[in-house]
Amino acid sequence: MESARLKRLVSEWSGKALNGWTVGDYINCGKSALVFKATNGLKEAAVKIFDPEIVERFGRADEDERIRRELTLVGAHHQNLVTIFDGGYSKEHDLYFVVMEYIDAPNLASVLKAIPSDRVRPLISQIAAAARFLEDRGIVHRDIKPDNICVSRDFGHATLLDLGVIRPYANDGEPLTDREEQVFIGTFQYASPEFLLRREEHTPEGHRSLTFYQLGAVMYDMLEKRRIFADSASPLARLVQAILHDTPKMDPTGKTPDLVNLANNCLVKDAKLRLSIVSWDDFASVLNISDSTTSAKENIRKLRTRALYETQSIESATVHEEIRRRKQVAGEILSKIAEQVRAASDECDLPPRTVKEVPDGDGAESLLVACFKASIQFGLLVDFHLALKLKLLDVNGQVVEVQGAAVASTKSVTESDFRPHFARLFSGVYEDAVVRMSIEAVLFPALEQAMNLVGPLDTTAISAKGGH
Ligand SMILES: Nc1ncnc2c1ncn2[C@@H]1O[C@H](COP(=O)(O)OP(=O)(O)O)[C@@H](O)[C@H]1O
Ligand SMILES: [Mg+2]
Repeated sequence: MESARLKRLVSEWSGKALNGWTVGDYINCGKSALVFKATNGLKEAAVKIFDPEIVERFGRADEDERIRRELTLVGAHHQNLVTIFDGGYSKEHDLYFVVMEYIDAPNLASVLKAIPSDRVRPLISQIAAAARFLEDRGIVHRDIKPDNICVSRDFGHATLLDLGVIRPYANDGEPLTDREEQVFIGTFQYASPEFLLRREEHTPEGHRSLTFYQLGAVMYDMLEKRRIFADSASPLARLVQAILHDTPKMDPTGKTPDLVNLANNCLVKDAKLRLSIVSWDDFASVLNISDSTTSAKENIRKLRTRALYETQSIESATVHEEIRRRKQVAGEILSKIAEQVRAASDECDLPPRTVKEVPDGDGAESLLVACFKASIQFGLLVDFHLALKLKLLDVNGQVVEVQGAAVASTKSVTESDFRPHFARLFSGVYEDAVVRMSIEAVLFPALEQAMNLVGPLDTTAISAKGGH
């Protein structure tokens, strides 16, 4: 939030009474709200007041519903989950708010660099315990990330906060509201691939898999002391690419392999596979470094599953990249050829022509069709079409084969009219000048033949045998 506005809201809201709670000192803000200390007689609490601009933008009904969801947690208590006391709408001040336990601790995002390595185990197991507590109540948090976790100053205790986007499983399949979409924009960095693509399954398992991914991302941050995908965070398109395709690599130096392993397992891209190699127990047992044979065997199974998946996805990513490059190179060469056809026909006084490029889906074979319209003025009484087929034989060396076919007709022609007549014009490393010569060697003789034809005429193939 812009600082002038933040200042204004802080001074406007301090001292106000909401359901008997007096708003005190400002604590911090997130993407949707400002959080203050609050008192009610002797009771101390924190009050989260929702930014009215956001409430207006996305609708009051939506805010009501979200607060109602949070209030379903009143009375539920877990030592690692912020306790909700109260909340609702103040008619007097026209504000939406939630009152909760005050946690005298900074959020994890602000102390990431200071987390001692030996604190990662207890902290992650505590955060996981809070998430599991929610799951047992049929609720998924969906926004687990360092900004939504408070860590005590001795790094011994973690509290999961910000229940603003919790969702009960009962709402299966409901798409995100506009406001939720907006809120998630700030959280993309911690979104799992399936969540990003809106392909998460609205089942307890689907939600659990998302939770595991987010726990893995928080572990990554604590182990690496920096945010996951920090180098790819912007622009958004780059971040999306990273979430979908990059495996976040951890530096194993000074880290115990079981922790690195658990984080890597959590961060597996495929939601189903993730669930097959991560379980709630992993976060409990992370507290004790076990070296029993059984757990070693189990770890080997998980390592192998992940390794197999990773090699497969690397292979498929490589194939994907190759096709993309092939298409790009083929497209570039096709445009160069089109340029040569235009240049060749512009040099002589030829009838007006159109040049159409038809790139192929996988870049292996593309087509280019030049069409010279019948024109009495130019002495051409039938339409003349020259088709050039480009085969990319080697992407890196730009080795191509160009074939040509020419037809004349007074009717419209399709690709199938050319197909039987293609003859090779050129093959070798692409070079503008050489390809231009080959094109001219077929274009002018064939056009000359077409000018000797008189219409009306069915499709007639014209010999298109060139040099090289
Ligand atoms: N109960 C609380 N006690 C102390 N600080 C809190 C509490 N709740 C939130 N905060 C602080 O306020 C920040 C924003 O709160 P959060 O609930 O995440 O808001 P938002 O929905 O806007 O992201 C947190 O990162 C944390 O620093
Ligand atoms: Mg938050």
